[in-house]
Amino acid sequence: MITIEDLAKFCKKKGFVYQNSEIYGGLSGVWGRGDVVGMDGSIITNPKVWEASGHVEGFTDALLDCSKCSHRVRADQFIEEKLKMDVAGLSLDKINEIIHHHKLKCPKCNSDFRPAKGFNLMFKTNVGPVEGSIAYLRPETAQLIFADFKLVQDNARLKLPFGIAQIGRVFRNEIAPRDFIFRCREFEQMEIEYFINPEKKKCPYIGEVLEHELFVYTAEMQEKKLLPKNMKVSEILDKGIMSEWHAYWLSFEHNWFISLGANADNFRMRQHLDEEKSHYATDTWDLEYKFPFGWKELQGIANRSNFDLSQHMKLSKEDLSYFDEESKKKFIPHVVCEPSLGVERTFLVFLLDAYEDDKKRGNVVLKLHPKLAPYKAAVFPLLSNKPELVGKAKEVYALLRKEFNCFFDASGSVGRRYARADENGTFLCCTIDFQSLEDDTVTLRHRDTTQQIRIKIKDIVDAVAKLINGEDLERFGEIVK
Ligand code: GAP
Repeated sequence: MITIEDLAKFCKKKGFVYQNSEIYGGLSGVWGRGDVVGMDGSIITNPKVWEASGHVEGFTDALLDCSKCSHRVRADQFIEEKLKMDVAGLSLDKINEIIHHHKLKCPKCNSDFRPAKGFNLMFKTNVGPVEGSIAYLRPETAQLIFADFKLVQDNARLKLPFGIAQIGRVFRNEIAPRDFIFRCREFEQMEIEYFINPEKKKCPYIGEVLEHELFVYTAEMQEKKLLPKNMKVSEILDKGIMSEWHAYWLSFEHNWFISLGANADNFRMRQHLDEEKSHYATDTWDLEYKFPFGWKELQGIANRSNFDLSQHMKLSKEDLSYFDEESKKKFIPHVVCEPSLGVERTFLVFLLDAYEDDKKRGNVVLKLHPKLAPYKAAVFPLLSNKPELVGKAKEVYALLRKEFNCFFDASGSVGRRYARADENGTFLCCTIDFQSLEDDTVTLRHRDTTQQIRIKIKDIVDAVAKLINGEDLERFGEIVK
């Protein structure tokens, strides 16, 4: 039988599983799994990862402490509320200057603040039984992609340009979590690091998006107090407003949201001002969404150049460069774009754009795209005290649940059951009535219009699949009153 060590070697060779942050000697007991362009890194990593990335030094938010009552506030939020001024990313000196200039005082006791200080947002933990052996819970998934770059690239035999993606839990000790799940301390990120040869800056996919329209808010527009503008990608590129890669990824992500039912008009592409750019970024554009509490970052897309790979090369002394077989040159790839998106904010966007308080129906209708609807269909017997209706309904339910996520509901009036289904976004409701017992047909009701058709039970699975993919209800039967 193969030894466990040999199995570990085999897994590493094939790129199935390898030790986390191996370039730093790993961290015992913590493993990640890698495959083609997706990888699944660990949450606890060797702390050197976060020294190299700059997080230990600079992943901070500014805090203000009252000199008298010690009341503590997050500086950017406090200034934003008091002065209606966006100061995210400003240095501590600049923040102190603003506080002093506008004579801002403690909201509790009206005394002066102490000078602003940085508060590191990473959660610290202790590894094993030895006190003082510090590690951090990852505050972004990105760094694991950089630390494992060489292993993934070699194993998946990737050629530039390529992306490595990761989805996973991240942790930030936010000073003021707020706005429901918009700002959490534990959340789920979906990130892609997209690597290119820095001498080949053209995006081969740009042709796919030239006609796409983006609502653009450049740093210059913000500085000159101009309004954002709708522009086609072709015009954006002609005017040199952003790189081809930024235009491509912003359009790609915008299209992804629209294709799943989000309202295209609720999105804006805002460029970071110089002072708000992260320490690693040469240019950043946020895909912003018009939340009920204002335009806010939904997704950040930064150009990280070769900052991270160079840093990890320096600290780990490992060679993370790439050999280009065509030019026979060795170089450090650049991350031209890092689309970085939070699942919680994505969930909010789809929910906000789907939510409709339907006064006529007297209930909320969640008009989620059918592909996102948690239940594709609900099955109801018209009356729950008629065993023949319940039996038939269970047969239909058994048919549908083999293919789709569905639920069976026999409690309360059919009206109440429709309302419950509307509120959880159920796309179709299938009711079994007395006619069903005679001719093997059922009614199928569409969530968004409440229109209904009668359809043969034998055709229902096929119809539901096609309706989810966008076909019209009328195609499967006449609308009945
Ligand atoms: N690797 C780059 C990075 O982490 P970020 O702008 O700090 O960039 C990326 O975060 C995305 O993660 C944001 O656009 C947002 O969707 C999500 N996100 C960040 N902080 C969050 C928080 N405290 N709660 C929920 N989502 C958050």
